[in-house]
Amino acid sequence: MSSIAISNQKGGVGKSTIAVHLALHLSEQNKKILFIDLDPQANATKSLKKIAHPLEIVASDLFKEQNINVEASKEIDVIEANSEMADVERYDSNVLVDFKKNIKELNKIYDYCIIDTPPTLGLRMTGALIASDYVLSPIELEEYSIDGITKMLQTIFGVKEKWNPELIFLGMLPNRFNPRSTTQKETLKSLIDNYSHLLIPAPIGIRSSIPESLSLGLPVWNLKKTAARIAGKEFKKAFHILDKEMEKNNGGK
Ligand SMILES: Nc1ncnc2c1ncn2[C@@H]1O[C@H](COP(=O)(O)OP(=O)(O)OP(=O)(O)O)[C@@H](O)[C@H]1O
Ligand SMILES: [Mg+2]
Repeated sequence: MSSIAISNQKGGVGKSTIAVHLALHLSEQNKKILFIDLDPQANATKSLKKIAHPLEIVASDLFKEQNINVEASKEIDVIEANSEMADVERYDSNVLVDFKKNIKELNKIYDYCIIDTPPTLGLRMTGALIASDYVLSPIELEEYSIDGITKMLQTIFGVKEKWNPELIFLGMLPNRFNPRSTTQKETLKSLIDNYSHLLIPAPIGIRSSIPESLSLGLPVWNLKKTAARIAGKEFKKAFHILDKEMEKNNGGK
């Protein structure tokens, strides 16, 4: 039904972590989920290894003409990142026509296709933005990360204007938030002042239980530890905002 790109050209801000948790959150609602990993580092593919079901087609196949013949399983299905994904950047941009067509076909089979993108401004990120209904941008509140936000927004709104007017920006989701850092608190305040309409007002704190949960193949809200429960609540608060936004927009679909 809908595809959601998780994008920010800045590395390490939590794209894969949030993408995997969003997939787990939506699958708990009995939705049919496909997870597409466009990053040859394959961090998300590795996190999902214990719980998800890999499809026969791999990520680089999506950039070629395909006869999509897939049946949704009861688990989260995954189109895994393969090493050829690193070469996609050298493909002719015409491959995005095939990519968009393939995602459209997959959207007929699944309730949600979640697309995890690599930390580069290139063909794969553009492809994900062209083919998606929604885009979510995890951000970090460190100064060096904030510098990239304008570029990221220009890319997203540039693609929306030129190639995909239907694209809905779900917002920037602050991640790895440290409430004890004065700089981060000030940055958050300045973002609220300047970009409140583009910001999801539910930051996710920095907690070691988050990487721990992924190494176990569990969402953090299923880990039995106080810190994990707090992290879980923060994820759920952010995801409920996204659920509402998507429900509102999916009404016509
Ligand atoms: N809220 C958090 N608290 C603690 N650690 C986190 C949090 N979010 C992400 N991490 C950790 O930070 C690292 C980077 O996260 P992740 O891989 O999700 O980022 P990314 O944006 O996908 O990176 P890349 O750009 O390289 O694909 C990982 O080790 C992850 O486990
Ligand atoms: Mg990643």
